[in-house]
Amino acid sequence: MNETLERWSTRRAFILAVTGAAVGLGNIWRFPYITGENGGAVFLLLYMAFVLLLGLPMMMAEILIGRAGRRSPMQSLGYLAGQAGASRHWRWLGLFGAFTVFCILSFYSVVSGWSIEFLVAAVNGDFVGRSATEIGADFDAFLADPGRMTFNHTLFLMMTMLVVAAGVAKGLERLNNLLMPLLYLLLLVLAGYAATTDGFAPALAWLFLPDLAAVTPLVMLQAMGHAFFTLAVGACALMAYGAYMPEHQSLSRAVVAVAVLDVTVALLAGIAIFSVVFAQGLDPGEGPGLMFVTLPVAFADLPGGPLWLSLFFLLLLLATWTSSINLAEPMVAILQGWGLRRKAAAAVVGVVVWALGMLSVLSFSSLAESRVLFGMNPFELVSSIPPEVFLPLGGLLIAIFAAWVMPEETSRRALDAGPNGFRVWRALVRWVSIPLTLIVLLAGLI
Ligand code: PHE
Repeated sequence: MNETLERWSTRRAFILAVTGAAVGLGNIWRFPYITGENGGAVFLLLYMAFVLLLGLPMMMAEILIGRAGRRSPMQSLGYLAGQAGASRHWRWLGLFGAFTVFCILSFYSVVSGWSIEFLVAAVNGDFVGRSATEIGADFDAFLADPGRMTFNHTLFLMMTMLVVAAGVAKGLERLNNLLMPLLYLLLLVLAGYAATTDGFAPALAWLFLPDLAAVTPLVMLQAMGHAFFTLAVGACALMAYGAYMPEHQSLSRAVVAVAVLDVTVALLAGIAIFSVVFAQGLDPGEGPGLMFVTLPVAFADLPGGPLWLSLFFLLLLLATWTSSINLAEPMVAILQGWGLRRKAAAAVVGVVVWALGMLSVLSFSSLAESRVLFGMNPFELVSSIPPEVFLPLGGLLIAIFAAWVMPEETSRRALDAGPNGFRVWRALVRWVSIPLTLIVLLAGLI
């Protein structure tokens, strides 16, 4: 066992860290906008089903591998494969995960940069007295300005890599401990306010009354991808956190707590955002700008609006910060496993991600019409294929490894859910999660 690896200091710290990874842009920005593009309730229903049937069991699979291996994802996979007498090539799965988060972090940082821009605007009171259309136009002008976009992307990535460079205990824990409850509270206030608007009833109907005729393989693929994305599963990122898990802690309970928190944050954000959409006659399928246009409008109506809005963007920024730290972790852990010092590894990762992120920055101006692959520009590409294809594929392989390859005794001990809990988990992974993921992936890709 690698005794030099740091550990989360308490069980609560582990849960908060995983929640920090899970709750982020996925819940507050991505969930509402892709739900909007995919017809509302059907998408929500599928996404919830996938969280339960795939996300939860696979999240356990992923973390238990890290916990049993107690090394970086690549090393853990290689070590455990060796122990099981299986091929050491399993370790490449860790590299695939790192490639996935590399793509994801590149656009994640750009969009998180938008929160910085909006935080500053909110503090300045720039949204006061402006209509939804005007706010939308300002947002488009911002997107078309590569200079401002680059500045914010750079700033956000620097914030991320600084915390990562500082190491697990010092950097990540403190931030997580402090901020998650506050964000939750603010979303509750916002959803409470949404309940007083005219848009509330139509928003609920749109979110919760599914039209089953709208289920297509592509919608299923997107809903599945989002379940992985929002729970941060499938990229070996949580595997890296599992390696720092304390010796005695129920993994299943921790994971269920995180999933419940994660889904409620998305639901609260969805209710708040779609109430404004319907109250203002906006378009739910507006795309990536949805949250950035609706929330300033919502807060404009609230007493103390600018203050609340500033607080909201501050918390959103912090939530995305804790997610991006997790996104960076697999890459840093791998470079460290190859002998690089943590600070050097963080610097290398920062520079490379920044460069790829620049393609996303330019996708809103000079590269907007470029069709790199599948008719998509770079931003559309990295914000859809890695979450919707790479994460499920990674999750699939992780699940196969944990439920079929690892010696039973090793995975049972790492899951720490008692003999019955283990059996239920393994049956679920073997006979439901793995086949379902395979079917949805194949159906969506063909
Ligand atoms: N779960 C994060 C979010 O919802 C994104 C993420 C994906 C983080 C994959 C880590 C790994 O914003």
